[in-house]
Amino acid sequence: MTQENIESVLIEKRVFPPSDEFRSRARIASKKDYDKLRSDANKDHEAFWGELAKTEIDWHKPFTTTLDSSRAPHFAWFTDGELNVSYNCIDRHLKDKGDKTAIVFEGEKGDTRHLTYKELHQEVCRLANGLKAKGIANGDRVVIYMPMVPEAVIAMHACARIGAIHSVVFGGFSAESLKDRIEDAGAKAVITADGGTRGGKVVALKAACDEALDHGCKTIKTIIVLKRAGNAVNMKTGRDVWWSDAVKGQADTCDPVWNNAEHPLFLLYTSGSTGKPKGIQHCTGGYLLGTIMTMKWVFDIQDSDIFWCTADVGWVTGHSYVAYGPLAVGGTVLMYEGAPTVPDAGRFWDICERHKVTIFYTAPTAIRALMKMGEEYPNKYDLSSIRLLGTVGEPINPEAWMWYYQVIGKERCPIVDTWWQTETGAIMISPVPGAVDTKPGSCTLPLPGIAADVVDEEGNSIGTPDKGGYLVVKKPWPAMLRTIWNDDQRYIDTYWSKFNGRYYLAGDSARQDKDGYFWMMGRIDDVLNISGHRLGTMEVESALVAHERVAEAAVVGRPDDIKGEAIFAYVVIKGKRPVDGDAEALTRELREWVAKEIGPIAKPDDIRFSDNLPKTRSGKIMRRLLRVIARGEEITQDTSTLENEDIIKQLRGQA
Ligand code: WTA
Repeated sequence: MTQENIESVLIEKRVFPPSDEFRSRARIASKKDYDKLRSDANKDHEAFWGELAKTEIDWHKPFTTTLDSSRAPHFAWFTDGELNVSYNCIDRHLKDKGDKTAIVFEGEKGDTRHLTYKELHQEVCRLANGLKAKGIANGDRVVIYMPMVPEAVIAMHACARIGAIHSVVFGGFSAESLKDRIEDAGAKAVITADGGTRGGKVVALKAACDEALDHGCKTIKTIIVLKRAGNAVNMKTGRDVWWSDAVKGQADTCDPVWNNAEHPLFLLYTSGSTGKPKGIQHCTGGYLLGTIMTMKWVFDIQDSDIFWCTADVGWVTGHSYVAYGPLAVGGTVLMYEGAPTVPDAGRFWDICERHKVTIFYTAPTAIRALMKMGEEYPNKYDLSSIRLLGTVGEPINPEAWMWYYQVIGKERCPIVDTWWQTETGAIMISPVPGAVDTKPGSCTLPLPGIAADVVDEEGNSIGTPDKGGYLVVKKPWPAMLRTIWNDDQRYIDTYWSKFNGRYYLAGDSARQDKDGYFWMMGRIDDVLNISGHRLGTMEVESALVAHERVAEAAVVGRPDDIKGEAIFAYVVIKGKRPVDGDAEALTRELREWVAKEIGPIAKPDDIRFSDNLPKTRSGKIMRRLLRVIARGEEITQDTSTLENEDIIKQLRGQA
């Protein structure tokens, strides 16, 4: 689909500078300091990153080559350097911060735990020794299939410590998905738990492992099982071992394996627009640097902060901003195992109050869901400890942004809307909160050393404000993916072929406004073509959500004889789903509303009301499914990864 003239029709004019209070404590506290960083990076990209890598990482053997582009698009950073990520995240803090809390944990039932850096070190070393005793060595793959408990992070670091490549599979995925990922990675071991708790229910993780292994996964020799939920499990002699037995008698120190900076740290499977999930492969040195710099630039992390990123470790956000980034900078990270609505919609705010969370990072979908429940929940709690808010995963519509800003942040806290991807390893485009004014709905400007741009079909910079195009990155960056595991050709095809190897293609469309701010317009395949006018689906969604009765909306295109494409909108309203007369009246009202907000061209042709949208467990709307339903086609795709499979009937208009 060509991207020329993607029209941007939603112009947001509000601007929010950081407060003096925030600025007075910030690491990068002025536009001048920030501009200096960006211009340093522009002047000498390689030297900029090389210098940071030297000062921010503890190297066992220093590197002499900063960037090797000889095998482009396979870029290698700091190649001849040697390091260990677990050492950099834990050991190097032991001397000064051994007794500092590294992880604060809260379970759904309210049980809490604190682990100091010293304790974390011991736990990681014992498990690392336990893995070695099971024959796991440098370069072996280990699948981690765990609930959101500290042991998930311990398992990741134990692997990193001995050079084993972990592949975390989200605990909400089915046995079938687990099997596919184990087999593609050729994993030797699985680290799991009897079960995890979410929404009061036990998710039987070990049982899913058994099911996966019954149908394949011949490479797996060991399953290590953490006792967590207390549900009954079958243990197969010779293969399965309790975590407590695996670490019994193991020393609480373990020399880290010093690996080359390019050694794979982990694989993380993510879905593409077509085909089987891709095993995104990340490296050791560059990835670590990306997480450290973004913790400092974007989250402005300080020694006293309590940092809470609500993402599960099964997603990249849980890798970079739970398991690695916060620890690499010696911070305190909070982990919560359960659902945001147990016992009620105030749980997140209750946790923020009790643990004095200072930085809160979550997804727009969570914000909108909690917004729908009403202000009375957050208003019951003291949120004054929070100083910075963040979002990730999808565009945040200005209405949700304003709610977050006013109701949660009390107009005191900057919001960092962070654009990045599993592939990019770390945040790429985001406000640096003490220096960059924010605009609701924009992820603002690329971070220093990130050469993001918006280009047309030929790869030329768009240049014109508010004209959409392809989001690309024009120079390699340290935390970028290295390849797709087992499928290097797909790496080249997906990310590099569009512009003949010159630019990294993100797969998103975007525009830049007159100030150079980036506005994401959705995935490339989510662009509608209505009567020759191109429209980002997100912009129609944003307009719908701006209506006072609408909580959430998803818009897809369906073929239309006259217009090329018609707009089909799925709408969730606050309160009860409208039916009959009310539904008809509201449909008319919303069509007029969108016409007024954007223009008659964007008027949805169909509006269907449902209680919820079809979401994957990470909160992403399954657009492909919505497209199929909008076209009245047969559903052939796998819907087992849906959080709410039973919503399909309603979406079809049959319930
Ligand atoms: C989308 C999550 C708008 C985008 C870290 C991207 C966003 C995809 C934002 C990657 C944002 C992520 N604004 N869109 N702030 N952040 N996206 O791999 O389409 O789960 O390509 O990584 O999410 O999703 P992924």
